[in-house]
Amino acid sequence: MAGSVPAAEPVIDVRGITKNFGETTALKHVSLTVARGEIVVLLGLSGSGKSTLLRHLDGLDRPDSGTVTVLGTAVSSLRGRPLRALRGQVGFVFQQFELVGSLTVLENVLTGALFRVRGPRLGLWGYRRDLKQAARGHLDRVGLLAQAYQRADTLSGGQQQRVGIARALMQNPRILLADEPVASLDPESSAQVMALIREIAIDSGLTVVCSLHQVDLALSWGDRIVGLRHGEVVLDTATQGLSKQNVMEIYGRVTTSTGELDAIETELGTVEPGEPDEQGELDLATFSSARDNRR
Ligand SMILES: Nc1ncnc2c1ncn2[C@@H]1O[C@H](COP(=O)(O)OP(=O)(O)OP(=O)(O)O)[C@@H](O)[C@H]1O
Ligand SMILES: [Mg+2]
Repeated sequence: MAGSVPAAEPVIDVRGITKNFGETTALKHVSLTVARGEIVVLLGLSGSGKSTLLRHLDGLDRPDSGTVTVLGTAVSSLRGRPLRALRGQVGFVFQQFELVGSLTVLENVLTGALFRVRGPRLGLWGYRRDLKQAARGHLDRVGLLAQAYQRADTLSGGQQQRVGIARALMQNPRILLADEPVASLDPESSAQVMALIREIAIDSGLTVVCSLHQVDLALSWGDRIVGLRHGEVVLDTATQGLSKQNVMEIYGRVTTSTGELDAIETELGTVEPGEPDEQGELDLATFSSARDNRR
């Protein structure tokens, strides 16, 4: 079982993990420690190993070598019930939200508690009153209480992702993993979702590891950026005082061809396709005004 972690011990401690899928090396000697309450952004091009690393933190993938310790527990050695217990403390937010469109928003949030209730649920009445109350509380937290009984597929993308966050919160997680949570969203919704993740993390002392592939967003919302390239960590630094130029330079330092440099500029350098760069500065002020205008 995952025990309580002494203050000095990292919440996440990845040591020298390597993961191959056939001929492909997805992760190569990756080490990473994350302290309690830290918001770490995994930054990298498509195929650089971000999702694979996140999946190792939740025990969904196992390393070929190296160790993964989460909340004081060696994840790679866990099976069955202890693994489920650990996963219960780790919330996951997905790029495509993964909601059940035909269910209400509230039911979708409640599915986040399924690891705590046995057997299939048949509609809302299958859930205990306290869970429903908790779900409503989380919906309120993400600003969607008014939509609780609306079908999930009637919401905008940004709203759906906020439901995804509320669902993750149903676990009362200590760690939140988010795999490209804003990749399917427009810049304004992206800012809202990232701001929400940051606010909740700070309020609840959650530790967050979130993958993104835009430098601007990583700088705006992360405490620290860990850059992955071809499965290796090429950058691990606090965001404070860091400019986009710094990040691009460090990230691109091991580039061998101009084609690769172009790919980095295109994929990491832009906030959203078609958006001018100066509008890429998404900060709390943007979020606040967006939130104020929220219906
Ligand atoms: N289950 C798998 N089987 C085979 N290859 C895999 C598997 N999972 C990942 N890979 C490969 O490992 C490498 C890293 O993939 P990963 O999905 O972690 O990258 P990523 O950084 O998340 O990319 P993206 O930004 O596109 O999501 C890629 O080359 C990918 O094709
Ligand atoms: Mg991925």
